[in-house]
Amino acid sequence: MKPIGSDEVSKTGTGRKVCIVGASGKLGRYLVKHALDRGYEVVGVCREQSVAKLADFEGQITVIPGATDDRAVIARAVSGCDAVLTVLVPWGMNHYASGTAQAVLDHAGPDARLVFSCGWHITRDGKDRYTRKFKLYAAVLGRLAKLARVVDLYDQVEACRRIFASDTRWTVVRGSDLEEGDSQGLPVWSRHVGDPVLASNLTRRVDYALFMVEAVENDALVHEAPAIVGRLTASALAHASGPA
Ligand SMILES: NC(=O)c1ccc[n+]([C@@H]2O[C@H](COP(=O)([O-])OP(=O)(O)OC[C@H]3O[C@@H](n4cnc5c(N)ncnc54)[C@H](OP(=O)(O)O)[C@@H]3O)[C@@H](O)[C@H]2O)c1
Repeated sequence: MKPIGSDEVSKTGTGRKVCIVGASGKLGRYLVKHALDRGYEVVGVCREQSVAKLADFEGQITVIPGATDDRAVIARAVSGCDAVLTVLVPWGMNHYASGTAQAVLDHAGPDARLVFSCGWHITRDGKDRYTRKFKLYAAVLGRLAKLARVVDLYDQVEACRRIFASDTRWTVVRGSDLEEGDSQGLPVWSRHVGDPVLASNLTRRVDYALFMVEAVENDALVHEAPAIVGRLTASALAHASGPA
């Protein structure tokens, strides 16, 4: 695996088209960069007021402005795409995350690779083991955000429930706490939060995006919900011999 910034990123995406839903955010812009580096044709979806955040990519990608839970917008954006990378965010109280996920599940082609982002708080099989601190933080943050009607974490849970139940070719990448900084290479992953390899709970955002883009070509990740952590973190260095 070549680190980002290397001249030797292989052009695995040449002749293939990928849609990035939520392209204008921090994670989304890294996704666009990695996808372009790999030679994919890129279609990005973002809110109308955020189109300017994609100015660096002008002339290199097609931007479709609109809410990511707008089914008509998504139908248009994913048409003919080999893969759809979705930044799943639980903004507002109108089922934004589940509406976005459902639109992608319904409109992407039957063979398309679908890769979604979310946090460690999502559990696929209930076998994740969270620290008391993590549980407390998620519960307090979730309730406060819901009370303020800003973010509905429970809707991200519903979005993932629908993805896990679908027979599409999905991967749900569960991010640890994130930080900015240069790439450290592909994060390591495990099926369950609580596994020692994940204990450092920190990933560079650029590498989160790298993992999602690499997942497009990795069929071993179909129907997996990898929880990731930076490959140079202490826990990864001490324990990385698992599925990564
Ligand atoms: N932040 C963390 O520590 C963390 C940890 C683990 C996992 N994750 C996961 O990583 C992914 C990216 O999260 P991030 O925190 O790094 O944020 P981010 O990449 O900046 O993305 C935020 C997204 O939310 C959109 N957004 C912001 N306000 C909105 C609103 N009012 N209505 C609709 N959309 C709105 C943004 O679109 P605009 O560009 O249009 O504003 C952007 O697409 C998410 O799936 C998250 O669950 C994050």
